[in-house]
Amino acid sequence: MINHKIRKLNIKDIDELEKIELETYGKYGWSKDIFKSELNNPLSLYLAYEGLNEGSKILGYIGTWLIVDEGHITTLVVCSDFRRKHIADILLYNLIVQLKSNKIKWLTLEVKASNTPAINLYKKFGFKEFGIRKKYYQDNNEDALLLWTENIQTEGYTDKLKGIMSQFLLKENDADKSNYKL
Ligand SMILES: CC(C)(COP(=O)(O)OP(=O)(O)OC[C@H]1O[C@@H](n2cnc3c(N)ncnc32)[C@H](O)[C@@H]1OP(=O)(O)O)[C@@H](O)C(=O)NCCC(=O)NCCS
Repeated sequence: MINHKIRKLNIKDIDELEKIELETYGKYGWSKDIFKSELNNPLSLYLAYEGLNEGSKILGYIGTWLIVDEGHITTLVVCSDFRRKHIADILLYNLIVQLKSNKIKWLTLEVKASNTPAINLYKKFGFKEFGIRKKYYQDNNEDALLLWTENIQTEGYTDKLKGIMSQFLLKENDADKSNYKL
């Protein structure tokens, strides 16, 4: 596993974030102004995955709005050179742990119907399809799948999270397993 730290995103990160958005989504990426308003929103939670051996660069981030007992995931990006190294697994896991302690019960999000990597990730974490938003995306008019979790506060879901984390931590020799206990 990459030597990393999970921390909250802050305003000082926005230049770095805008660059990653541009690389990921081109002109459809979030601007600095969008990040400013998201990070100033008291109902949002944004986490960064910092690569400690990469000069503390942000290698990925995830965000959510907290609306009563629902968490609406607004973004999840991993830098292209660092994909398939469990960074999204770790970000989503950390987000869910924090949301569980904030009494959030259900998580929801929209994802492009063709985005197999993201759909696989969310399904692994127990998200299920509950609908389609037709032509939801501006860049290519693609449909969005609307995904929801079961209640993340249940023992069953906690066991599921433990199972997901133990599966890949077991494969990693240098994993600091103590960081990833529920
Ligand atoms: C989707 C994304 C965040 C995944 O990040 P990642 O760090 O590479 O993912 P991880 O290595 O943590 O993989 C976690 C799981 O995601 C799924 N997954 C990730 N990449 C995949 C791929 N290329 N093909 C199929 N499944 C994939 C798998 O289920 C994987 O679990 P496994 O390794 O046990 O099979 C990344 O590809 C990305 O940033 N894409 C562009 C932005 C985006 O589409 N964001 C999602 C918006 S809803």
